[in-house]
Amino acid sequence: MQIDIITVVPGLLDGPFSHSILKRAEEKGLAIVRVHNLRDYATGKQKQVDDYAFGGGAGMVMMVEPIAQCIESLKSERHYDEIIYMTPDGKTFDQQLANQLSLKGNLMILCGHYKGVDERIRQKYITQEISIGDFVLSGGELAAAVIADAVIRLIPGVLNDETSALTDSFQDGLLAPPIYTRPADYDGMKVPEILLSGHNENIANWRFEESVRRTKERRPDLLEGTDFDIGEKRN
Ligand code: ADE
Repeated sequence: MQIDIITVVPGLLDGPFSHSILKRAEEKGLAIVRVHNLRDYATGKQKQVDDYAFGGGAGMVMMVEPIAQCIESLKSERHYDEIIYMTPDGKTFDQQLANQLSLKGNLMILCGHYKGVDERIRQKYITQEISIGDFVLSGGELAAAVIADAVIRLIPGVLNDETSALTDSFQDGLLAPPIYTRPADYDGMKVPEILLSGHNENIANWRFEESVRRTKERRPDLLEGTDFDIGEKRN
């Protein structure tokens, strides 16, 4: 997979991709993230990328031409499965969308800044608009990093333990169960006996029941329309 991110603040994306799992994904050749500075596509001495909004009002608008230049230049090199615009008025990102995007080959992500981009860019180029939640960030960069992280870790071979992504919260519509590691007794707080039993089926059932319990307590909305119930056994 290749993810091309277009931004006016490339420095914001220096960190996230040079550590840990995302770095390893790149080293293994499984996912490449390239960050493009929109200003490199601006013309004129000032390298202007934003301008006042027609009709007035506070805040600058990202201009059509530099973005169109950048997108056209990237599109001339490869086909993109999706051209995504990060914006608070987009579709709310979730695990299902992460799963869908992880199956794609090439993604382009445009980060909005200031008041956002000229509407004509959205109409002409954007195939998906994504928000990471009902709050406003100062730009789409951190949101783009969130998307890239959630998607790249799902690509087969990126995580060392291949089954690990399958047991994440949300992956089966439930929150993850409690987890423990050594010591088995910390200051009198004991790990549930069943996890020390070595009985795989009982452990799987316990984890499933704990997942349902936790989901009922914390996110009952996730259970609407399902018939999960405490005491139910995994089949
Ligand atoms: N840009 C600003 N706020 C955002 C959000 N919540 N999600 C995605 N992009 C954004």
